[in-house]
Amino acid sequence: MSPVEPRKLIIDCDPGIDDAVALAMALFDPRLDVLAVTATAGNVSAEQATANLQAVVTFLDPPRLPRVGVAAADAILSPRPLSVHGSDGLGGLELPRVPLHGGHPSEKVIWETVKAHPREVTILSLGPLTNVSRVLARDPAIAELIGGIVVCGGTSHAAGNATATADFNFFCDSAAARHVVREPVTKTLVPLETTSQVLYEFDLLDRLPREFTRAGTILRPMVAHAFRAQRQFLGSEGIRLHDVVTLVAVTNPELFERETVAADVETTGELTAGMLVVDRRPHRDARPNADLLVNCDAAAVQDCVLRALAAAGEAT
Ligand code: BDR
Ligand code: CA
Repeated sequence: MSPVEPRKLIIDCDPGIDDAVALAMALFDPRLDVLAVTATAGNVSAEQATANLQAVVTFLDPPRLPRVGVAAADAILSPRPLSVHGSDGLGGLELPRVPLHGGHPSEKVIWETVKAHPREVTILSLGPLTNVSRVLARDPAIAELIGGIVVCGGTSHAAGNATATADFNFFCDSAAARHVVREPVTKTLVPLETTSQVLYEFDLLDRLPREFTRAGTILRPMVAHAFRAQRQFLGSEGIRLHDVVTLVAVTNPELFERETVAADVETTGELTAGMLVVDRRPHRDARPNADLLVNCDAAAVQDCVLRALAAAGEAT
């Protein structure tokens, strides 16, 4: 029997602590073939997101180096709320800066990667959907060549983390979120209420890779910062790592319960910009266009995360 081919993946992200933890897991997961990692502005500016992404990947030094895409500096995002990721996005982690010479824009890297592997590549979106929207706007025909998009974003219970009704990623670039959600691409939305089911308690810090491994060197201070910041800003004793749960939705979809829904995104509401709108009327006009992950087996997701982090520790 031939071994299962690893799944080809592009990770589009705005590192961000939970983005960086997801990267550490994905880059050493033998079930994944991370072809490209692309930066987008969101938790931090475009320039900082690119610097963070480049620094994290270079420091972790995975066995297969993905292409790295540069975040668009002209992205216009909604004014963002106070960040729990610290001013540098990585909780004050001082990683060596990597000079970027002639890096290609994220949207070019995404386009080329999808074109090179038609219908085989999944895009894992862990930040605002700016890059993905731009790729689809430039070349609408690319939609049918994308294997699927798995998105960390939205909340169908309308309990947001950026505003009362919107999650951070959809809020930052609601026009992009609407564009991508409306496109005829197979897509899975992992909303905040599902990612929030997985709560890590303080003992997570003891279960991270040891400090002498490269993964441990970056994960330990970042996760410690997440505990401090989520307690200070959200009054929470545990932490939630939304992007990490979204990655598990790619590697272990069997741990999630899904509903096929007709979804859209509000772009103009004074109180509701960036809100995920799910039309649940029985006689609606809108066609189903997305899978919404409505529940997960939180304990099993936590186990997957701990195993992936341990593997990153062993490999580094
Ligand atoms: C998103 O908020 C950001 O701060 C996280 O990185 C995650 O992608 C969830 O709303
Ligand atoms: Ca993110």
